[in-house]
Amino acid sequence: MKKTLILFSVAAVFGTAVFSTSSCKKSSNSKMTLYDSLGGTKVVADPSTSGATIESGRLAIRSVIDSTIFVIAGDTAINGHFTTLLAEVTAGNLTGFENLSKNLTDFVAVATGAKDYTYGGLSMADAHNPAKNPRMNGKADDGDFTAFENDLVAGANKNTVPSYLTARLGAIVETLRSTVVQQ
Ligand code: HEM
Repeated sequence: MKKTLILFSVAAVFGTAVFSTSSCKKSSNSKMTLYDSLGGTKVVADPSTSGATIESGRLAIRSVIDSTIFVIAGDTAINGHFTTLLAEVTAGNLTGFENLSKNLTDFVAVATGAKDYTYGGLSMADAHNPAKNPRMNGKADDGDFTAFENDLVAGANKNTVPSYLTARLGAIVETLRSTVVQQ
């Protein structure tokens, strides 16, 4: 519980619940990517960093990711895989959290159609293979993956993402199940 509360305070700092979805409706333009629907390339002030700007789509995704990390931290169904991260945060070291937030945000931004960001982390296979990524405490099974998806939906709901967009995000995530689940 203590770890959960600490990570909650971290998420409260980083997980600003600013969510600005595009005014476009889901079927108004078939060329719109999910990234566009989440706010796209419109540049807005970054509420986390004074004077900085950020693409609206990235801000929306980062908000969902940070909320999701918070939900995962309190979810006993899967938080046992994140022991390294939780121990660091408990000790007041936020480097791993910030790296995970950035890499997950980059990954999801690219996966949803962002053109101005790149993902520089491990492949999905290596990131979830404890032999390649010692921060992954044990291989994930199908139940872990479903719990992750549920936590992502909870993270999206904390940021009032419209359900049809959350469903589109869920469909993208689901395509990675067989890569992430390694037992
Ligand atoms: C489609 C679903 C998922 C995606 C897109 C995803 C994505 C990522 C990414 C981008 C990283 C960072 C890799 C790096 O820093 O190089 C990561 C790390 C990690 N993922 Fe996942 N992941 C997913 C599902 C899961 C599941 C189901 C689990 C297990 C419960 C899990 C556990 C972890 C852990 C423990 C780490 C290391 C965290 C740390 O930095 O301490 N992931 N994941």
